[in-house]
Amino acid sequence: MARTYYSWQSAVVLLAILIVPIRCSDRHNISQEQTLLRIQQLLYYPVILSSWNNTTDFCNTVQSSSVTVICYEGVITQLHIINSYKTHQLPEDFSIDTFVTTLINLQSLKVLKLVSLGLWGRMPAKISHLSSLEILNITSNHFNGKIPSEITSLTNLQSLVLDDNNFTGWIPSRIGFLSRLSVLSMKNNSLNGLLPDSLGKLTDLRVLMLSHNNFSGESPDLSDLKNLRVLELGGNSLGPKFPRVPYKITSIVLRENKFTNGLPEELHSFYQLQKLDIALNRFVGPFPTSILSLPSITYLDINGNRFTGLLSEDLACNPGFQFVDLSANLLTGKLPECLVSSKVRNVVYNGNCLSTNDGNETKGQKPISFCRTAALAVGIIPRNHKTSNWTKAALALGITGGILLIGVAFLIFRRVHGKKMEKKPPARVIEENLTSSYSSKLLSDARYVTRVMKLGTVGIPAYHAFSLEELEEATNGFDTSTFMGEGSHGQMYRGRLKDGSYVAIQCLKMKKNHSTQTFTRHIELISKLRHQHLVSALGHCYEFYLDDSSVSRLFLVFEYMPNGTLRDWISGNKGKNLSWSQRIAAAIGIVKGIQFLHTGILPRVFSGSLKITDVLLDQNFGAKISTYNLPLLEKVEKEGYFKSFKETNRVKVSHPEKLDVYDFGVILLEIISGRPICTQKEVECLKEQFQSRMRADDGAMKEMVDVTIRDKCCDQSLITMMEVCNGCLLDDIADRPSVEDMLWNLQFAAQVQEAWHSGHGSPVSSSQPAITER
Ligand SMILES: *[C@@H]1O[C@H](CO)[C@@H](O)[C@H](O)[C@H]1NC(C)=O
Ligand SMILES: *[C@@H]1O[C@H](CO)[C@@H](O)[C@H](O)[C@H]1NC(C)=O
Ligand SMILES: *[C@@H]1O[C@H](CO)[C@@H](O)[C@H](O)[C@H]1NC(C)=O
Ligand SMILES: *[C@@H]1O[C@H](CO)[C@@H](O)[C@H](O)[C@H]1NC(C)=O
Ligand SMILES: *[C@@H]1O[C@H](CO)[C@@H](O)[C@H](O)[C@H]1NC(C)=O
Ligand SMILES: *[C@@H]1O[C@H](CO)[C@@H](O)[C@H](O)[C@H]1NC(C)=O
Ligand SMILES: *[C@@H]1O[C@H](CO)[C@@H](O)[C@H](O)[C@H]1NC(C)=O
Ligand SMILES: *[C@@H]1O[C@H](CO)[C@@H](O)[C@H](O)[C@H]1NC(C)=O
Repeated sequence: MARTYYSWQSAVVLLAILIVPIRCSDRHNISQEQTLLRIQQLLYYPVILSSWNNTTDFCNTVQSSSVTVICYEGVITQLHIINSYKTHQLPEDFSIDTFVTTLINLQSLKVLKLVSLGLWGRMPAKISHLSSLEILNITSNHFNGKIPSEITSLTNLQSLVLDDNNFTGWIPSRIGFLSRLSVLSMKNNSLNGLLPDSLGKLTDLRVLMLSHNNFSGESPDLSDLKNLRVLELGGNSLGPKFPRVPYKITSIVLRENKFTNGLPEELHSFYQLQKLDIALNRFVGPFPTSILSLPSITYLDINGNRFTGLLSEDLACNPGFQFVDLSANLLTGKLPECLVSSKVRNVVYNGNCLSTNDGNETKGQKPISFCRTAALAVGIIPRNHKTSNWTKAALALGITGGILLIGVAFLIFRRVHGKKMEKKPPARVIEENLTSSYSSKLLSDARYVTRVMKLGTVGIPAYHAFSLEELEEATNGFDTSTFMGEGSHGQMYRGRLKDGSYVAIQCLKMKKNHSTQTFTRHIELISKLRHQHLVSALGHCYEFYLDDSSVSRLFLVFEYMPNGTLRDWISGNKGKNLSWSQRIAAAIGIVKGIQFLHTGILPRVFSGSLKITDVLLDQNFGAKISTYNLPLLEKVEKEGYFKSFKETNRVKVSHPEKLDVYDFGVILLEIISGRPICTQKEVECLKEQFQSRMRADDGAMKEMVDVTIRDKCCDQSLITMMEVCNGCLLDDIADRPSVEDMLWNLQFAAQVQEAWHSGHGSPVSSSQPAITER
């Protein structure tokens, strides 16, 4: 039956083709329906297209997982034809040239997926005529020959997937022209040669998968690819140097290559690294056990190298481990207890010289003499760790006498990993401020949805991981002369970096049982706190216990604020005072900082206890809210964003933002009055005075104002500021102004003051808006 159906149908199509003659030129005036039917014919009527015929309304048919046609305003923009299994190549008389010539009639295609259709031959250069293409996936066909370099003119491409074909030759060196590329995958082909340096320019790249080819030589420097999360280079002949990668990477697969030189020292700060697979290379030297306790790691494969070193039962490891393969190395000692526990489902360690505790000592293991001899043979003598300078030793573990030491491998089974990622597309690693994004229409196609979060980070240096050496150098070994003070969350030091800039370094001691999840999330939050009116985080650094490599201290590096707190310049003893304009500017800065915390980041942050002493001044007297004391740690620990703070001693928190508004009102009270306000009683008392004076005449009102500015502020701006202040301190939190209202009014106050100042007291109309009550 199917047979007759097909032949009938081909007759129809042939008829259609006769009516509209097709020549082998690039442009045809044939309808998109005819084009699709022609494609069906050129593919030899595959079963998955059996529902297509000359009456099919392609733009309005139900999509299936294997066949999808999507139109936008009647024009086809997406075509997916996906077979479930790799099929034999199409017959000898198939012509890829004719096929692509037909295909490029669909000029508006943005997404083209032709998977497992038996396509074969050299990819014609004219594929580049599909200039709107954003996603091209031609996995599991039989393409051969070179990848046409013309493909690099498809500058809208965001995802280029050529997996499981037989492409040969080099990757086009101009691949760097595809500047919007987010996913580049060419796994399992016969590509060879060096990887082009221009890969290092694809700054939007998130996923680079080139496994199972025949690439050789060093991999290009990828450290500028700040968005890169997945790097798979397994099954090539790359090496000997470990590729340079950005520190937020989550997955590195380098198995079956020729890597010999050590793992990079920065690996210790790869706090998002989940999977490291460096199996079957030629790594030699001591195995850096700190890798076992990296905060995010769940998959590690170092199988088949020549890592040496003494393991011990009480080493720490990440509790989230799912797979660890240490087999066929030269490890001695005992398998760490944390790996034996039932939680880690797959632990493989045979082919070493390890002993277990249960008496099955030699099962699958080699005699210890073997490892010793072999270690000598590869020129590495297991060294005894010195405990004297343990902090340095922890980091230096990575480099001994020019031979590398750190070997780590993670492997998350593709399936487990893949599923996880798909189920939770907005996973934390993906939600960060990335520079690439798919156009909204394509969201459903994008495997890796990215999200842009614009932050007001003008002029703030990039966030990065610091090395402990850098911080020790900056603080002269945390010398007491650099000690700035101790807050509830740890000590603060002042440091001077190599480039001459000053930083504030907060040191947090970690309890041994501090869950790694806790502080990685803390760091994540901190790294998002970057704004002109926040004391922004510049980076962090871990210090590890030498004995079990768990994190002992966490250093957070912040901007340094040379002018101290706002109070010092208002009511403090600096002997100097801020002018009225400067005070208004400071107030505006604080509100902008609050606004950013409330609306500029996710999760939103509500301080809950903002004080004037948390407002610091930079060299230009710009106000910035200090981030040291924000309730981030509590937030993380309690896993709730509102639950943690002040619920006990304040009103029920249905509008947490209005608590910050109140606290801002208290700061404003001090800014205006010039008196230090330290107790709730003082707040109430001053507030009442304010309210009564405001109802009286201007003269009485001015008595409330700091003497040093009393004669230098215009009435209208003063009234506005006092009204804002009053509004913020209202008892009913619903009546307090919104952050936007405050900002509007403060900016108004600044303008009138400026006009007054430049016009020497010229009157200003009082068309100032009332504070809206909501
Ligand atoms: C579709 O094919 C049938 C059978 O050959 C033919 O009668 C009909 O005219 C065709 N319709 C169109 C729209 O081409
Ligand atoms: C195709 O032909 C029709 C009628 O001949 C014409 O109106 C239309 O503009 C042509 N389209 C293109 C893309 O040439
Ligand atoms: C075209 O296909 C539809 C369903 O796929 C079928 O119902 C219809 O009978 C077919 N039309 C022709 C003319 O074969
Ligand atoms: C390419 O398409 C196939 C079929 O939809 C899919 O399974 C595969 O994951 C895609 N490849 C990439 C890298 O997106
Ligand atoms: C791939 O192409 C090479 C060179 O053209 C050829 O030798 C090899 O057999 C092909 N491999 C497959 C799996 O088709
Ligand atoms: C690579 O492709 C070949 C031929 O299509 C297939 O047999 C093999 O399983 C693939 N290898 C991997 C690792 O996917
Ligand atoms: C891989 O490339 C090397 C040269 O770099 C060559 O000697 C070797 O034959 C290639 N292997 C395959 C399977 O093509
Ligand atoms: C030794 O290994 C066996 C099998 O893996 C296990 O059942 C047994 O508990 C182990 N310990 C001893 C002391 O035999």
